[in-house]
Amino acid sequence: MMHTLLQQAIQEAGGLLPFHSYMRLVLYHPQYGYYMKQHPRLGRSGDFVTAPEMTSLFGELLTLQWIEIWQRLGEPATFELVEAGAGSGRLALDIYRTAQRFPAFAAALSYTILEISPDFCSAQQKLLQQAGCPMTRFRWCNTLDELEEKGVEGVIFSNEFLDAFPVHWVEMHSEGLRELAVVQEEQGLSLAVMPVAAPLHPDHFMRLGITLPLGMRTEVACAANVWMAQAARILRRGVIVSIDYGLTRAEYYHSTALPQGTLTGFFRHQQINNPLLHPGEMDLTSHVHFTDLAEVGEEQGLYTIGYTTQAWFLMGLGILQRLEQLARSQSVERMQEIRQTVMRLLMPQGMGERFKVLMQGRNFPHEPLPAGFSLHNAKQRLLQKNQG
Ligand SMILES: C[S@@+](CC[C@H](N)C(=O)[O-])C[C@H]1O[C@@H](n2cnc3c(N)ncnc32)[C@H](O)[C@@H]1O
Repeated sequence: MMHTLLQQAIQEAGGLLPFHSYMRLVLYHPQYGYYMKQHPRLGRSGDFVTAPEMTSLFGELLTLQWIEIWQRLGEPATFELVEAGAGSGRLALDIYRTAQRFPAFAAALSYTILEISPDFCSAQQKLLQQAGCPMTRFRWCNTLDELEEKGVEGVIFSNEFLDAFPVHWVEMHSEGLRELAVVQEEQGLSLAVMPVAAPLHPDHFMRLGITLPLGMRTEVACAANVWMAQAARILRRGVIVSIDYGLTRAEYYHSTALPQGTLTGFFRHQQINNPLLHPGEMDLTSHVHFTDLAEVGEEQGLYTIGYTTQAWFLMGLGILQRLEQLARSQSVERMQEIRQTVMRLLMPQGMGERFKVLMQGRNFPHEPLPAGFSLHNAKQRLLQKNQG
């Protein structure tokens, strides 16, 4: 069915379907898109395992950061947590459970899950209900539009969410910047190039002071930037926290480091470099452009508070001290398992350095730095201008 849909879309686009439209269709088609269908995608049997699926310590530590933010905001009677893209609901459950250990914070907590997939919505509701969470404390919404009117006072956060947004896939040619497009050939789908179209500008990189070498292929994350701009407008008071694998602009567009960009697919735990394979069955993802997100936020009046690696962030929140504490109550065998998982979250070659954390705020007292950034803050590196 996805093949028929793609053929139609390619035909309607005049034979050349811009890659970002292809990515939107295969991930988000209401019936046949990867995120919209019913099949296991998370956990060991799925396509990827995320930090909250690995250990409840991740949610526990995030809760400590949310409590600090709530305190700095003067402990308001209602504190909103908006989790974007909540997957199985595991993180929401861990946060809710940890919050119960802090009654005043728990009483203020109002939890909104922003989730596009009906399948994931039901999984989240089932998990929270079965764990005995009062469902009146949670609400679901489909898009940020539903939060526009009232705005948010608290935290809008996500883990492994922005990397799934459709990207413009581009390539530098001697005639200038070109966009990659999907075409139908006799033997199947293949790639072609087309002129750059709005919202992307042919001088996009020149305007950023970046020279892309001939032949370099990379991504521009227009859709993620649009999302961030809207989230920033919605935030009245508090912070936006984005956790994902990603890079600064200088790293992303470095001429020799990533000559083919970061776009890739995940299909049953296998990384697949051809994004045209398994349409609708494979997760497509690219590294998050953290400099873009920070700049887009600043354009909307947010202040960039901190940018660091997941390892520094979790250590700032006391993950190592928590391990010591656990060692007093857990068996040697259990501690070995916990330590191995924590190492995966912290190791430089693992998630520790590939994953970054960005915190942006509005009407938020950001000095001294919140605990997650207290050991390390690479904000200056994120916002440095004109490197390529
Ligand atoms: C890779 S999963 C991450 C799940 C979870 N945050 C975790 O760490 O386990 C991405 C989640 O974002 C949701 N999602 C993707 N694009 C979305 C969008 N545009 N709006 C809302 N939810 C979206 C997916 O349905 C899924 O629940």
